[in-house]
Amino acid sequence: MPAETSLTGRFDGKVVLVVGASVGIGAAAARLFSELGAAVVLASRNMEATRALADELVGLGRQAAAVEADVGHDGDVERAVAVAVERYGGLDAAFNNAGIQGPARPLAEQSDVDFDRILNVNLKGIWRSMRAELPELIDRGGAIVNTASVGGLIVAPGISPYCASKHGVIGLSRGRRSTTRRRCA
Ligand SMILES: NC(=O)c1ccc[n+]([C@@H]2O[C@H](COP(=O)([O-])OP(=O)(O)OC[C@H]3O[C@@H](n4cnc5c(N)ncnc54)[C@H](O)[C@@H]3O)[C@@H](O)[C@H]2O)c1
Repeated sequence: MPAETSLTGRFDGKVVLVVGASVGIGAAAARLFSELGAAVVLASRNMEATRALADELVGLGRQAAAVEADVGHDGDVERAVAVAVERYGGLDAAFNNAGIQGPARPLAEQSDVDFDRILNVNLKGIWRSMRAELPELIDRGGAIVNTASVGGLIVAPGISPYCASKHGVIGLSRGRRSTTRRRCA
């Protein structure tokens, strides 16, 4: 059976938040969640592309909302979660995908400013997102998927701040899983 057929309707009645949804992997995931039946809340910094994607999905007769959110700022993902709750009645899944790579140069030539900016978006942004989403997700038995990278398993030359941030994303994601087990025990 083709994957499209087996997954059809899989997300009917579900509400999915995609953070970092304007282009690339996030936009592709948002299209897929929508195609499979979910109401999608699209959060990103790039509002022109995010609104265009929401309009495209609404034009197909689906439920989609665009929300301006910078994961580098406290409170922005909370606003996106509030849209999911107020407009669609709750939150069933979140895909935390926002990320930046930063400049490619040897570690000794990386600046504090770039290190802080990359960690603030890639790692603290996931932290902020999970903290905002979990209160809505837990009672609905929801799920969070965080985008890491192969750079979360190895350190590629020239992008050590990015790789450090993605190692942290894997750690945060593992931490949530063990916390769930303890809650259920
Ligand atoms: N493309 C790859 O080869 C690759 C490989 C490994 C991991 N990744 C990871 O996958 C994710 C998506 O990558 P992509 O290639 O689609 O990137 P992209 O640059 O095409 O898209 C990134 C998305 O994140 C959003 N974003 C960036 N900073 C943000 C912020 N501060 N607040 C809110 N939204 C923000 C952008 O608006 C965009 O929607 C990233 O986390 C990236 O690190 C990508």
